[in-house]
Amino acid sequence: MLRLLQRLIASERWMRVLGALSPSLRIWHPDVRRDPYPNYRRLREQGLVRMRLLGGWAAARYRDVERLLQEPAFSTDRDDVALMKMVRRATRGIPEFENLVDNNLLMIDGARHRRLRGLVSKVFTPRRVEALRPRVAALAEDLLDRMAAREEVDLIRDFAQPLPTIVIAELLGAPSADHERFRAWSDDLVELLDPLLGHEGFDPPERANRELSSYLRGLLAERRRAPRDDLLSAMSEAHEAGDSLAEGELVALASLLLAAGNETTTNLIGNAVLLLLQHPAERKRLQNDLALLPSAVEECLRFEPPVQLTDRAVVEPVELSGVQLRPGTIVLGLIAAANRDPERFPDPDRFDIGRAENRHLAFGSGNHYCLGAALARLEAQVALDALLRRFPDFDGSPAPPEWKRSTVLRGPTVLSVRLR
Ligand code: HEM
Repeated sequence: MLRLLQRLIASERWMRVLGALSPSLRIWHPDVRRDPYPNYRRLREQGLVRMRLLGGWAAARYRDVERLLQEPAFSTDRDDVALMKMVRRATRGIPEFENLVDNNLLMIDGARHRRLRGLVSKVFTPRRVEALRPRVAALAEDLLDRMAAREEVDLIRDFAQPLPTIVIAELLGAPSADHERFRAWSDDLVELLDPLLGHEGFDPPERANRELSSYLRGLLAERRRAPRDDLLSAMSEAHEAGDSLAEGELVALASLLLAAGNETTTNLIGNAVLLLLQHPAERKRLQNDLALLPSAVEECLRFEPPVQLTDRAVVEPVELSGVQLRPGTIVLGLIAAANRDPERFPDPDRFDIGRAENRHLAFGSGNHYCLGAALARLEAQVALDALLRRFPDFDGSPAPPEWKRSTVLRGPTVLSVRLR
């Protein structure tokens, strides 16, 4: 059944049919994917929206999405949701896959989540992230050096993709020569975010997870023998009140960091460059005052969030926007719609890199707030800074590009840029 759904959704034609069958939501429709914001506006105006085809509801208003992410009645533990039961059945008996699901911070909640997250946050600290700044800057310069000889480059393939992959590989402690393999594994793993969108079912993520887990187990054994100053060594030494991470937990957490931090950051950099091409006055403002970079990155995150939506399962009876929800119900939180809610952001469709009050939901909110937010911000700031200094006259088409085929992740597939 799941395979069938995946195959149908993999085809553009069937996506149109699906869009037509669920007219209330329409987020799967290819035309909506090109520019989802008018549709998000319509959904916000409706309040909570029923998902007829998949069951459940979708929240588009800021205050509803914020409640969804913060209140204990909504959980990432989706074991009682029908679709999740189907996914569980399809993956049962694949040990590394079960390990990934059982220890995935985004799928567990409560005490177990607090324990695992606590152990990672103990070592993946703001200080460790900030210490990476000079290395990230050197990597960005190096990638720009390689592009310099060419007149036109694909900013995604040549810059926005390799940068986060090399950073996360080095951070974990893998040789940077292996970053291509890391990228391939993470691209396949990230399909799990969109479990209905995989073209070949669970085979690619399952294979990637098997290979990556075996790679990480090997690396972990080396680091246990001879620890180094990297995240894998630090995670394997992390103890809290006599507690430590078991090998399976460690492998799943390292895989999650890799999968969650790669394509998202690539999309942030790609979306930011595209937004600057589309808003020349704001670009000029930034180029005249690079101290605006941190707030410009926040505005890119608000305006074109790399993660457009997430979901929660209702675990206790609760009311949301006047609708009574029962346990076992799935609710989508449309982050990208909430980020343009006029009740929260004045003139929300205006791209303003100096926006003063910008509490967007691009990194989520509450207990599952993005663990890599500081790293993603740092990478985007450093990447844009390097690009704008090195090639201040870079130029490209402001026309909307081809977007990735995902309702969850948003970013251009290709971004042709002339460096001048
Ligand atoms: C621009 C880049 C990024 C965006 C937009 C982003 C977005 C998000 C969002 C929205 C969530 C919360 C999802 C939910 O509550 O359902 C999240 C969680 C998470 N992110 Fe990120 N992320 C980014 C980069 C990263 C990076 C670089 C890493 C790690 C190196 C990372 C690791 C994680 C982890 C581990 C979680 C799960 C936290 C938990 O459940 O406790 N992310 N991210």
